[in-house]
Amino acid sequence: MPHRIALNEGWQFCPDDADPTSGTQLVTLPHSAVDLPLNYFDETIYQRSFTYQRRIDWTPDMQGRDVWLRFDGVMADACVQINGVEVARHHDGYTPFDAPLTPHLVKGSNIVTVTLSGAENPEIPPFGGQIDYLTYAGIYRDVWLRSAPSVRIAQVKIETPDPLGAQKTVLARVILVAADGVQSGTVIARILDASGAEIATQTVPVNGTDLGIRFDGLKDLSLWDMDNPVLYTLELTLQTPAGTDCHRTDFGIRHAEFTPQGFMLNGRPVKLRGLNRHQSFPYSGYAQGRRSQERDAEILKYDLGCNIVRTSHYPQSPWFLDHCDRIGLLVFEEIPGWQHIGDAKWKTRAVANVAAMIRRDWNHPSVILWGVRINESADDHDFYSEANRIARELDPTRQTGGVRCITDSEMLEDVYTMNDFILGDFEKTDSNRPRTPLRPITETTGLRHPVPYLVTEYNGHMFPTKAGDPEQRHAEHAIRHLEVLNAAFGDPGIAGAIGWCFADYNTHKDFGSGDRICHHGVTDMFRNLKPAGYVYASQQDPAARIVFEPVTCWARGERNIGGVLPLIVLTNCDAVELTYGGSTTRVGPDHARFPHLPYPPVIIEQRHLSPDALGRWGMAWKDGVLTGWLAGKQVAQRHFVADPVPTRLEMLADTTKLNAATQDETRVVLRGLDQAGNPLRFLNETVQIRASGPVRLIGPDHVTLCGGMAGFWLRTTGQTGDARIVVSSPRFGSAELTITAQ
Ligand code: GAL
Repeated sequence: MPHRIALNEGWQFCPDDADPTSGTQLVTLPHSAVDLPLNYFDETIYQRSFTYQRRIDWTPDMQGRDVWLRFDGVMADACVQINGVEVARHHDGYTPFDAPLTPHLVKGSNIVTVTLSGAENPEIPPFGGQIDYLTYAGIYRDVWLRSAPSVRIAQVKIETPDPLGAQKTVLARVILVAADGVQSGTVIARILDASGAEIATQTVPVNGTDLGIRFDGLKDLSLWDMDNPVLYTLELTLQTPAGTDCHRTDFGIRHAEFTPQGFMLNGRPVKLRGLNRHQSFPYSGYAQGRRSQERDAEILKYDLGCNIVRTSHYPQSPWFLDHCDRIGLLVFEEIPGWQHIGDAKWKTRAVANVAAMIRRDWNHPSVILWGVRINESADDHDFYSEANRIARELDPTRQTGGVRCITDSEMLEDVYTMNDFILGDFEKTDSNRPRTPLRPITETTGLRHPVPYLVTEYNGHMFPTKAGDPEQRHAEHAIRHLEVLNAAFGDPGIAGAIGWCFADYNTHKDFGSGDRICHHGVTDMFRNLKPAGYVYASQQDPAARIVFEPVTCWARGERNIGGVLPLIVLTNCDAVELTYGGSTTRVGPDHARFPHLPYPPVIIEQRHLSPDALGRWGMAWKDGVLTGWLAGKQVAQRHFVADPVPTRLEMLADTTKLNAATQDETRVVLRGLDQAGNPLRFLNETVQIRASGPVRLIGPDHVTLCGGMAGFWLRTTGQTGDARIVVSSPRFGSAELTITAQ
C-alpha cells in the first residue's frame, strides 16, 4: 500500500442530521454541505450538523502497519469515529488533523463516520462575534488514507542557514513516532533537484526520536526567488526493525527579512504589492479542489501582477501554498480570527492554531511572515506574548506579524502589520483630514523608533465597487488603489501594501451590500478583473506582460456632465495615443501625480486636448482608438465604437483538459462583447449554460452578465471523454467549447 492515497470518492453524505430518514447522497470531496445561490441567501442554512460516512476495506498490506486518516480541512468541530469508536476530535476548521484507525480496524469492512457542525460555535476561533466572511460547512478539503510502520517519520523541518553564502547548508530536524521507542535504524537522506537528480546524500544512524541531519558545503545550488522559484526535495528513507518509511519534502533556499528600511528578499529590496485572498468561491463556498486553488495563485501572480498574497484570515489550502512555492508568489499567512477575542479556552485554541499553522507550513519558501494575532483585535499582552513565543520557538527563521487596525498597538511582533483605511476618512463630515492615502508610520505605531512595517489592508469597505457599477465609480476605485500603492512605494520604511481585496466574497448580513456579498474585490467572484485589478497588473514589467486597460465604456453620456475625461489608462506602456475624429493626441504616464509608482497610469485630461477635440454634449459621438507605445514601438491598441451592440459571447476555459481520475474542475469565464471586442458593461443579459458529457456544472444553469462578465466552474464526474459546453443567450446566440476529461 502506498503511504498516502486520496480518499475523496465514495462518501455517503447525510444532508439532514435532524432527519436521517431523509436519505443519504453519494458525494466526492472536497464537498460543501449546502450549495448556495450567488447572493441574497440566508447564511444560517449551513449552520447545523452534517454527517459523512465511508467504508474502508481492510487490505492485507495494512497488516502490521499504523493506518490513519488525514483530514486537510473540515468545517468545523469535527468528530471522527471508526466502527462506532471515536478516534479524533478537531475544533478548528482550517488546520489539518489525523484520525488514527489502527487499533479499531477489523479485517473486512470498516465504517468511518465524520460528524461536523457548521454552527458558529463561540468557543472556537474565529467565532464569538461578527465576522465579515462565511465559513461554509463540509469536508471541504482532501482526505488521505495513510499508513506507515509503527516507527515512522512524523515531522520534518528544513532550515537553510546562511542562504546567501556561496556554499549552502541544509538542516533537517526529523521527529519520529515510535510508541515503544526506537533501538536501531538508519535514515538515508537525499537532496534532489527538480529533475530528480541527486545533489547530496548521507546515511544517519537513528538513536532517538528527534534527529538532526546536516548537509554542509553544498555547491551550485540556486536560490528560490520570485522569478526563479527553484525547489529542491529532501527525500528521507527511514529503516528500522519495524519496516521502511519514506518521506519527501520540497523546500527552497532563500533569505527573507522585514527591516525598518523595507523588505529584503535574497539581500535585495523588494517592494511588496499584493492582495488579500479569501478562499471562497461562488455556490461551492470553500469546497474547490487543487486546480481552483492553483489557478487563484496564478491569477494573483500573472493576471494581477502581485508579488504577495495574504491568506486572510486563516491558513489556506495546501494546494494553494504549494503552488505559491512553485510560481514564486510570497505569502503572509495568519491564524483564524476576526476582531473578536474569546475567553481563556478560546485563546488556548487560537495559540494552538499558531502552532498547527506553523507546523503545517514551515517548509514553504513562499511563506515569509506568520500572522499571530486575531485580525484587527484589541491588544492583549498575555495572549499575544504567548502567540509570539510559540511562533518563535517553533520557527525562529521567520518573523511574526499581527494585523491590527488600532494605532499605538503594543509591538510584540517583529513587523508592525497595519490595516490603514485612512483613505476614505476625508469623506466623513467630522474628519478634518484632507485626502490621505496612508498615515505616517510613526502616527500608527506611536513609536519614535523605526520598525519593520507592512500595510496589510486598505480600501475595501471604504469604497465598495460592483463589477456593474458606473464608470466613474470604477475610475475612482482604481485611483484609490493607485494612490495607496504610490504612497507605499514612496516611503522606504513601508515594506509594501496588500489591498482589500482579491475577489468579491459572500459574507454575513452584517456586512456587504445587503446581498450577502462584499463587493470589495479588484475582481468579481469569478475572478474577472474589474478596472482596479489592472492597477496591480500594470505594475508588472512590460517585458513580462504588456498591460493596457482604458477605464472607459466609451460613451458620451455615462459620466456625470458627460464625456470620457479624465480617461485613465492603466498601463505599463510609456505613452498612449488617443485618436478621435481624425486627430491624434499623445500623453505620457502621470509621473506628477504618481511619482513613486513603477508604472503610473496615463490620464488623458481636457488640458491635453483642444477645447472641442471630443465634441460637446449634443454633438455626434464617434469611434475612438487608444494606442499604447513602448520604447518607440506600438505595442497595444484598443478600438472603441460609438454604437456598441452585442456581437460575440466570448467563452474561455482556464483549461480544456481535466483529470477524470480525481474530482477536477475548471473555471470558464464569459464576456459579452461589442463589434470591437470590448465588454458591454451595462448589458444585463442572461446566459444559459448546458454541459453534457463527463462534467457537471457547479451552480445554476443560468447566469447574468454583470459588468459585461460572468463565469462558472465545471467539475469532472469521474467518466472520461469529451464534454460539450454550450452557452447561449437571446442577444448573442450561442458559443461552444469542448473539454476533455482523461
Ligand atoms: C477589514 C477586515 C476585512 C474586511 C475589510 C473590509 O476591517 O480586516 O476582513 O472586513 O475590513 O474592508
